[in-house]
Amino acid sequence: MDRRPIGVFDSGLGGLTAVRELARIMPEEDLIYFGDTSRVPYGGRSRDTLVKYARQDAAFLRTFNPKAIVIACGTVSTTALDVLQAENDIPVFGVVEPAARASAHVTRNGKVGLIGTKASIRSGAYERALDVLHPGVDVTAKACPLLVSLVENGRFRPGDIVAETVVAEYLASVKAAEVDTLILGCTHYPLLRDIIGAYMGPDVTLVDVGEQCARWVKQQLELDGLRNERAGAGRRHYYVSDSTEDFSALASIFLGEDVAGEVEQIDITAY
Ligand code: DGL
Repeated sequence: MDRRPIGVFDSGLGGLTAVRELARIMPEEDLIYFGDTSRVPYGGRSRDTLVKYARQDAAFLRTFNPKAIVIACGTVSTTALDVLQAENDIPVFGVVEPAARASAHVTRNGKVGLIGTKASIRSGAYERALDVLHPGVDVTAKACPLLVSLVENGRFRPGDIVAETVVAEYLASVKAAEVDTLILGCTHYPLLRDIIGAYMGPDVTLVDVGEQCARWVKQQLELDGLRNERAGAGRRHYYVSDSTEDFSALASIFLGEDVAGEVEQIDITAY
């Protein structure tokens, strides 16, 4: 039994898709979320910059004495998970391993598609994890640098001609490879699930990395005896590095419910 909160971070609001699942399957846990909204998107940045940002994000969350840190960001998970794990004496979870496990389990034809930010695709992290779990798996990867901006600007609904056109162009090569599983390798992408699903067709299973990560975190906390077993709902605190003005409206879309809990702006460069 451990009553400390779970710290979760992302470059922006995408990580809230993981918070949504964490809150659904572990409602009694306290969650502290940090979205680095002043520096989003992370996906086109160099490894050095991403490691620096990841360290600051984790250092900020550590001020709340969390029992674990969840990197609810494909870009940081593929680039700086090993650094954060080595530098922190609490469990640090990323999205790659749980997403690779789910995909290896789901694929029937051994052909898996992967979409993510430039940094995530460049890292080769998903391919490495999948190759161990499903030797010989055929991965067709595609960097989709415009998708995070579309989502952060609220352009993800079916019928949005810009979003549909961009998705179709990015996914053409993945579809042509006849994958039966598609990893949405960035926590922003579940918002585009309807558009992506419609383009790929009903026979392709979409793997949501934030959702898979949340389930993995629950399992690991249970194994380590770190769950909060009290009755009643946990508290949620949200922190962002840019103005909180538009946060609630957009965040409630990612969360699938109204934002319950405090929202505060912090200066992440101070960490
Ligand atoms: N949600 C982040 C990810 O999973 C977005 C990356 C970005 O900021 O470019 O990769």
